[in-house]
Amino acid sequence: MTDTLITAKNLQIALASNNKTLVKGIDFSIARERVALVGESGSGKSLTARSLMGLLPESLSVRADTLNVLEQDVLSFKVRQWNRLRGNDVTMVLQDPKYALNPTHSIGRQVEEPLILHQKLSHRERQEKVEAMLDAVGLKNPKQLKKMYPHQLSGGMGQRVMLAIALINDPQLLIADEPTSALDHAVRDQVLELIYKLVDERNMGLLLISHDLEQVADYSERVLVMYQGKIVDRLPAKELPNAQHPYTKTLWSCRPNRNKRGQSLPVLDRAELEKLDESA
Ligand SMILES: Nc1ncnc2c1ncn2[C@@H]1O[C@H](COP(=O)(O)OP(=O)(O)OP(=O)(O)O)[C@@H](O)[C@H]1O
Ligand SMILES: [Mg+2]
Repeated sequence: MTDTLITAKNLQIALASNNKTLVKGIDFSIARERVALVGESGSGKSLTARSLMGLLPESLSVRADTLNVLEQDVLSFKVRQWNRLRGNDVTMVLQDPKYALNPTHSIGRQVEEPLILHQKLSHRERQEKVEAMLDAVGLKNPKQLKKMYPHQLSGGMGQRVMLAIALINDPQLLIADEPTSALDHAVRDQVLELIYKLVDERNMGLLLISHDLEQVADYSERVLVMYQGKIVDRLPAKELPNAQHPYTKTLWSCRPNRNKRGQSLPVLDRAELEKLDESA
């Protein structure tokens, strides 16, 4: 079992048509730890995350000096190799379960699917695993729930189902791209606490993308701050309230307060920030 789950050196993501770079040569690594990726809208967080899963559209190209996922050089990966990794060792939870779950398939079928794709188990073993996983994400009556359809679930339940799908094959790394921002305030912390609990229990790595800096400060260990396609700051999460870097400071001081959590961040002073480069 490797401890370095991701190594990215000089990772660049560009438009294939005109070579315009959207992610401009970033370096980072992720071990079995909780790393948060923050930064204003459009800074390149989701593109970075998707490049680790082989999920970028063909209109974008990826270049890097090194891009290793679980010690495999994914720059040379073909579809079949990505398919073996994705949904198995590396999985992703997205923002809104409404769009991520298939409305025409039962919950049981959707949680079972990664097992069918990646493991050789009997029908009975799969059902047992599905029920245990639904139980582990805090959903009651797994047997009945398996027969239900996504429209019958609340947002919070839907996101727990997404987490069950993401974790059923015991991945080593979970990428969560704003996993709670489509949820009601009341259930946000519950879902995030659940993510952290499961990640800790299973000794996994977590890459969390979030606009909620208080959530990040509470639940992550390290923070990477992106601005216009670059990582401009990196710091321990508990130091966010005392950040030294001007951009990180602005992000923290402009964060919506707890009651307004989930709203977008205010626009920052570009003129000042244009002068900044990577100081990490
Ligand atoms: N398929 C695409 N084709 C062209 N440009 C894209 C594509 N996907 C993203 N972009 C652009 O790349 C930049 C980074 O996008 P990305 O989705 O990574 O931002 P983000 O940091 O995740 O923002 P948000 O916080 O709003 O989710 C944005 O300017 C976006 O418009
Ligand atoms: Mg995004």
